[in-house]
Amino acid sequence: MNFELREWTAQDIPSLAHYADNEKIARWLRDAYPYPYTQKDAENYISSCLSAPKDKQLCRAIVVDGSAVGSIGVFCCGDIYRRSAELGYWLAEEFWGKGIMTAATKQICTAAFESFDIVRIYAEPFYDNAGSRKVLENAGFVLEGVMKNGVFKLGQLHDYCMYALLRN
Ligand SMILES: CC(C)(COP(=O)(O)OP(=O)(O)OC[C@H]1O[C@@H](n2cnc3c(N)ncnc32)[C@H](O)[C@@H]1OP(=O)(O)O)[C@@H](O)C(=O)NCCC(=O)NCCS
Repeated sequence: MNFELREWTAQDIPSLAHYADNEKIARWLRDAYPYPYTQKDAENYISSCLSAPKDKQLCRAIVVDGSAVGSIGVFCCGDIYRRSAELGYWLAEEFWGKGIMTAATKQICTAAFESFDIVRIYAEPFYDNAGSRKVLENAGFVLEGVMKNGVFKLGQLHDYCMYALLRN
């Protein structure tokens, strides 16, 4: 399915608030991702993306037919982790299973390696997040380990995975 990655704009606020407000998305993400997801949350997220230093992160809207229907970002780490960056993403439920996130992940990782002095991009999906793990594997990420009981979400402990893509 056709999509583009582009920078967020204030015009995306209603679309972001609409598509992001989904328990089936929030359950796989950190608690910093709000649920319910309000218009104010959308405003805050977009303004944080627009104000962040451009040499430290690539934050992109996933756009289908002119509407922002998902989010993907690569965030450079600091201190001794400064040659690494973290990948995160979500997509509106009605667009799942069409290959969008696999293609978006490949595209943004290529751009991140071109833009930043990093050697490693990592992602930490929950062990049970089969869809996200498949996206990462499709994009060339390697499973480096499983962190037992590493996260506590919605009152329960879960295992999570460490996946990484190294610079060629
Ligand atoms: C995970 C997510 C990003 C996948 O996006 P997507 O665009 O549907 O992924 P793709 O279409 O590129 O699918 C990649 C592969 O995963 C498979 N897949 C997708 N969802 C799946 C699921 N729930 N269970 C099993 N496999 C799944 C697809 O069939 C495809 O397999 P293939 O390569 O053999 O064809 C999307 O489901 C989502 O936003 N989920 C909620 C938020 C989330 O989990 N974010 C990631 C946190 S680490």
